[in-house]
Amino acid sequence: MTRPNIVGVTGAAGFVGANLVERLLDEGRTVIGIDDMSTGAIENVARFLDHPNFTLHQYDCRDTQRLRADWADVDGIIHLAAMKIPRYEGGLRTMQVNVDGSHAAFEVAIALDVPVVFASTSDVYGNAKAPFREDGEIVLGPPTSRRWCYATSKLFDEHLALRLAEEQGLKVAILRLFNCYGPYNHATWWGGPMSVFFEEMLDGKQIEIHGDGKQVRSFTFVSDTVDGFVRALDTPESWGEVINIGNDNPITIIDLAHKVQAAVGVEDAIPDHLTSFESMGANYQDVYYRVPSTEKAKRILGYEAQVGLDEGIERTLAYIRERRAAEASRDQTLASA
Ligand SMILES: NC(=O)c1ccc[n+]([C@@H]2O[C@H](COP(=O)([O-])OP(=O)(O)OC[C@H]3O[C@@H](n4cnc5c(N)ncnc54)[C@H](O)[C@@H]3O)[C@@H](O)[C@H]2O)c1
Repeated sequence: MTRPNIVGVTGAAGFVGANLVERLLDEGRTVIGIDDMSTGAIENVARFLDHPNFTLHQYDCRDTQRLRADWADVDGIIHLAAMKIPRYEGGLRTMQVNVDGSHAAFEVAIALDVPVVFASTSDVYGNAKAPFREDGEIVLGPPTSRRWCYATSKLFDEHLALRLAEEQGLKVAILRLFNCYGPYNHATWWGGPMSVFFEEMLDGKQIEIHGDGKQVRSFTFVSDTVDGFVRALDTPESWGEVINIGNDNPITIIDLAHKVQAAVGVEDAIPDHLTSFESMGANYQDVYYRVPSTEKAKRILGYEAQVGLDEGIERTLAYIRERRAAEASRDQTLASA
């Protein structure tokens, strides 16, 4: 088995996509990216647009016919395109894009007889008991809360992938990603709490903490997340498996806020009085403790996250400062033109 050398990537212009494309091109592989630019940005991949091994097509990945035509020569697929937060793009769109988009990617992988690595999420565990094991329980909230349709859509995709594997020979690896952060992430809540903390503190604002800030998360630097995808793509033993990809160093959101505040070098960005979850309304639902078991990733992929939180925060901050300086200088040039 040779490693896939021409890789089809959906969601290539998104946060994880942009970092993954960079790694694949650096390794000398060819990438045929698909992105409808609904939440992605051309700036994320601008540096590769002239690269001889990179092509980007802009359309909805649910268009199976176009996918098949553009990916006629691929020998591996990574499916990232998805909607992440229902409160922004709508619950219905989240369900439709995540279910139909994944179905399209899986159908094309079967037709071409190539492996596909699918980006699932740690959100599928819901409020299960941590550390989350891939064969462990899943505790999702009720469908009357729109918040859970992201996890539900991804869990449906996992079932679909595994049933297609059993009954139609799909070669699929399912990766459950744990809170990823780093360069090219979105500056809004779409990019997670760390992104928002950086941007608001750099703007001299006070941040918003949901509830008491004692929710626990495991933040994974994006180069480590990308490493999980590349390892899964190159490892046939990952087919038919669900594998957590994350860092197993937990931290509370409030402690994270203090770390970001220290790195940015501001004071008083964190509110003194935090609210309780109860005060956020009867409909507010959250995951309180999200930490992966990383044993399976180690065993099957030889995977272990390499970048610690302090280093990851420094690297992310350096990127954000650089991005903001470039934006400021562009705005100044436009103003004086
Ligand atoms: N970032 C994280 O912390 C995290 C955690 C768990 C899971 N994931 C999963 O990883 C994947 C990538 O996430 P991300 O953080 O890079 O998100 P992102 O929003 O930055 O990237 C998703 C990309 O998919 C594109 N896209 C959306 N719908 C599309 C469609 N119908 N057709 C074509 N392109 C479409 C968007 O334009 C965007 O560029 C997603 O599947 C997400 O659910 C991410």
